[in-house]
Amino acid sequence: MRVFVAGATGAIGKQLVPRLVAAGHEVHGMTRSESKQAMLDELGAVPVVADALDPGQVAQAVARAEPEVIVHQLTALGAIDLRHFGRAFAPTNRLRTEGTDHLLSAGQAVGVRRFVAQSNGAFPYARTGGAVKGEEDPLDPAPAREMRAMVAAIRHLEEAVLGAGWTEGVVLRYGALYGPGTSLAPGQAQFELVREGKFPLVGGGVWSFIHTADAAEATVAAAEHGSRGVYNIVDDDPAPVAEWLPALAQMLGAQRPVPAPRLAAGEAGAVLMTEIRGASNAKAKRELGWRLAHPSWRQGFAP
Ligand SMILES: NC(=O)c1ccc[n+]([C@@H]2O[C@H](COP(=O)([O-])OP(=O)(O)OC[C@H]3O[C@@H](n4cnc5c(N)ncnc54)[C@H](OP(=O)(O)O)[C@@H]3O)[C@@H](O)[C@H]2O)c1
Repeated sequence: MRVFVAGATGAIGKQLVPRLVAAGHEVHGMTRSESKQAMLDELGAVPVVADALDPGQVAQAVARAEPEVIVHQLTALGAIDLRHFGRAFAPTNRLRTEGTDHLLSAGQAVGVRRFVAQSNGAFPYARTGGAVKGEEDPLDPAPAREMRAMVAAIRHLEEAVLGAGWTEGVVLRYGALYGPGTSLAPGQAQFELVREGKFPLVGGGVWSFIHTADAAEATVAAAEHGSRGVYNIVDDDPAPVAEWLPALAQMLGAQRPVPAPRLAAGEAGAVLMTEIRGASNAKAKRELGWRLAHPSWRQGFAP
C-alpha cells in the first residue's frame, strides 16, 4: 500500500515508518522541516514538507503522494507541564481539530480507503465506574477545567474520523506513551522528575501505559486491516499511581515518593494522579492480531 504518515518524525512516527517499510509499504512521511528530510529518507520514507495547519500545503502534499491510507500522528506536546496542562495541550488541540480536518479533506479528495488517527486512552475516560475502560465506555462528560479543551479536541478528532463515511476511519486511543522519543524514558523530563523526587502525588488514578514500539506495531496492523471504530492501544497492566510510581522510583534509584497535597500538582495533575481510569486492550488484540513486546510497564520501564 501507499501510506501517508503525518507526524512521521515523532516518537511514534520514527518507530512506525521503518515497520511500514519492512512490511512492504511505500511510505510518504510528512514534516514541517526541510532539515528532517534526510532523517525520513534514512527511515525509508519519501520525505514530504508541509505544515499540517496549512490546508493548501496538506492538500498538495497528499494529492502528490496519492496514498491509499493516511496515518495521523500529529502532536506537539514536548514534556507536559502538569501545572499548566491547558497551555501545554493548546498546540496539540489545534492539530487534533484543524489538522485532522485538513488531512481528512485532503484524503477525501484522493479517495483514501483508510484513515488511522492517534487519539488518547490514558487521560480522557470518564472518572466514574470501573477502573479499566473498554472502547464503548464514555469519555469524561465534565472534565476538569484545565483538561476541557484537550478532551474537546479528542472528541472532535474521533467524531470527524469515525463520521467520515467515505473511508474506513480508525481511531487509536494510545495509553501513556513511554520509551524512545518520549518524556518517559531514561534521561528525559518525567523520569528525571521521578528520580529527583519531584513527582510526589501518589494516588489511586489508574494509568495504562504503552511502549512506543508496541504502539507502532498496533498502528501497522490498524493501517493494514483496521475496521471503522476505536481501539485502545495500551499494555496488559493498568496500574494505580500508588503502584507504578514507587516501582519506577525504585528502578531509578530514587527515594520512595510520598503523598503530597492535591494543590501541589495543579488541577490536572491531581486528576491524573488520583482520578483517571485505565483502559483494556482486549479488542485490539482480538481484532488486530496485535502482540505486545512489552506487555507490562514493569519490564518496559527497566533501563
Ligand atoms: N498518549 C500519550 O501519552 C502521548 C501521545 C503523544 C505524545 N506523547 C508524549 O509527548 C512527547 C512527544 O510528543 P510530541 O507531541 O512532542 O511529538 P513528537 O514525538 O515530537 O511528534 C510530533 C510529530 O508531529 C509533527 N508535527 C507537529 N506539528 C506539526 C505541524 N504543524 N505540521 C506538520 N507536522 C507537525 C512533527 O513533525 P516535525 O516536527 O518534523 O514537523 C512530529 O513528526 C513524548 O513525551 C510523548 O510521550 C504522549
